[in-house]
Amino acid sequence: MNYLGIDLGTTSMKFLVINENGIIYKNSINYPVIYYNNGYAEQNPLLWLKAFKKLYKNMDVKIDSIGITGQMHSLVLTNNGKPLINSILWLDNRSYKFSKYLTRKFGTENLIEETGNYPLSNFTLLRLLWISKYNKNIYKNANKAFVAKDWLKFMLTGVHGTDVTDGSGTYLFNVRSRKWSDKLFNGLNMDKKLFGDAFESGDIHGYYNGIPVIAGAGDQEAAAYGNNLTLNDVGISLGTSGVVFAKINNYKIPENKSIHLFCDAKRNRWHWMGVTQSAASSLDWFIKAFNIKYSQLKNLNGFSRVLFMPYLNGERAPIMDTDIRGLFYNLSPDTGINDFIISIMQGVAFSLRHVYDSMNIHRKNIILTGGGTRIDSWNQIISNVFNMPVKVKEDSGSALGAAMLSSHGDIDIDASYKLYYPENHDIYDDLYIKYRNMVKRIAKPDKL
Ligand code: XUL
Repeated sequence: MNYLGIDLGTTSMKFLVINENGIIYKNSINYPVIYYNNGYAEQNPLLWLKAFKKLYKNMDVKIDSIGITGQMHSLVLTNNGKPLINSILWLDNRSYKFSKYLTRKFGTENLIEETGNYPLSNFTLLRLLWISKYNKNIYKNANKAFVAKDWLKFMLTGVHGTDVTDGSGTYLFNVRSRKWSDKLFNGLNMDKKLFGDAFESGDIHGYYNGIPVIAGAGDQEAAAYGNNLTLNDVGISLGTSGVVFAKINNYKIPENKSIHLFCDAKRNRWHWMGVTQSAASSLDWFIKAFNIKYSQLKNLNGFSRVLFMPYLNGERAPIMDTDIRGLFYNLSPDTGINDFIISIMQGVAFSLRHVYDSMNIHRKNIILTGGGTRIDSWNQIISNVFNMPVKVKEDSGSALGAAMLSSHGDIDIDASYKLYYPENHDIYDDLYIKYRNMVKRIAKPDKL
């Protein structure tokens, strides 16, 4: 049996097929994010469908089951599946004022009790509220809403719904009971059928050309599933976003407001995660803006006295500041281009450690995934900054997790991996303290 995993990512769609021999096929197609207005980020869903069709057509293996994962929170608002506007993506900052609106309307404690989370601006509901206020006609015409990957599933199967992990990220979900929240739908006067049914990740969602399509999971939960993350590990993703992901024993509300408590892809399991908005995207931005060759990134070692705050798209965890933007500081006459590049990798690592520290948990290993892991020196910097061993699997990530989910646990890919051990942690620790002091000076948390 061959299992296809599809990752509808922020910058590309990835296809990956596995069977009992391991990974037998991989392919991907890139598409752009539309950035404007200093914080708006959108994508045309039709590009996802086009990418899917091309990848599916070009796939030269027969498949028996499909698992889909993708960018979380990104809203597709439609009339019976036809998108009415571009998708407002997870990294878009326009809806932050609706956090305060929700806490005023329901009361913070009630919201936490109901959803397990604070109403951060990235959650799907807040995009919906923005449209209901600023684009009333579109809102009136909408009868079906989706999180990105669920729209693609609808186009393939005709079945409208999400899975419990992406349901968690809508902020219309009761994460404890793994069901839609009546309180929120009713309180906001919204149709409870707006996002369809909520399935467990491994459930069959529908069929595409007779092939079962499982409900799947958000990209972070799929990656954790693919990496067999345990309670000893912390999962870190160096994708467009940077994510610190930790399994927890039981449903438990984290102390820090910016940390999400979501359903896991495994039944009756929950996890915590904190998101730094711009991880690999910070380096991508620099490479493009200053015409850096990819080869220049290889073999960059050591540390940089330049400190970079990776807040190009505002920041979610732990500082919750939608308005903040990126910063380099501590430049001196001998600062060269390599200092900038290293400072970006280091700054992302500091930001991720800041998220991890705010969770107040202690894990033994880091399992690192995402496109950024192709850069060896970045993996080493993460190990140095966290003072923890880092494991990078050769093939990992969300598409693999989705494929494994669709095999219902029958196939477990035990990919070979590279290990990194911490070096010169003290130097990085001193720099991290300087970084934290700077963050304290510039961050202004959103009002919730
Ligand atoms: C998770 C999140 C991002 C996206 C990236 O909460 O917003 O990590 O899932 O695709």
